[in-house]
Amino acid sequence: MDNRDLEKQIAAREAVKFIRQNDIVGLGTGSTAFFAIQEIALLVKNGLKIKGVPTSENTAALAVSLGIELLPLEEVKGIDITIDGADEFDEQLNLVKGGGGALFREKIVASLTKNEIIIADSGKLVKQLGKFKVPVEVVPLALNYVLQQLAELNGKGEVRMKDNARFITDNHNIIVDADFGLITDATGLAESLNRIEGVLAHGLFVQLASKVIMGKGTQTIIYAK
Ligand code: 5RP
Repeated sequence: MDNRDLEKQIAAREAVKFIRQNDIVGLGTGSTAFFAIQEIALLVKNGLKIKGVPTSENTAALAVSLGIELLPLEEVKGIDITIDGADEFDEQLNLVKGGGGALFREKIVASLTKNEIIIADSGKLVKQLGKFKVPVEVVPLALNYVLQQLAELNGKGEVRMKDNARFITDNHNIIVDADFGLITDATGLAESLNRIEGVLAHGLFVQLASKVIMGKGTQTIIYAK
């Protein structure tokens, strides 16, 4: 395992300590969340009773393969704790998410969650968000309108591709990765993106994380509200 993966695993091990018996647990998406799901599966094998709420079809398949019982997102009224990854975070706990394309379900899950814990390797901490382009999930019919609106906000949008075709999300939409340069006002930009018709969700997560647990070497550093 390389150093980044070790940091992800250390952060995941620390994060699962916050899970309690009978919790409803949001299960994140991506290579960092993968470590948390593995740790949760181990706890379940050892007698912990939880129900998981997946943030993507990939995560649902992984969780089921590891023996974690799931609840469908549309039936859940509240989630006790979620452990998810991020593409970037700052010390104010603002995040960019959606590198894996699961941002819409991740945001719904985060919004339903009492204790949203983000786990990350040390490469994810930034002074200012924006080096990682902001993923925007777009209803395909609205693509040109959304690109124009992003340009009005000084954002340069590019349709995400995979295997020479448009990347399609679990919700049958497309992703536009938007470059705004370094973001000075994450709250303002998030609000502006929320107002664009045809945008289902964007990857700026403001005021949603309760803590970030970052692996650094063999230690963890916790950033909390
Ligand atoms: C998926 C996400 C992921 O949490 C984010 O992309 C980080 O992924 P990784 O842990 O693989 O670096 O938001 O939509």
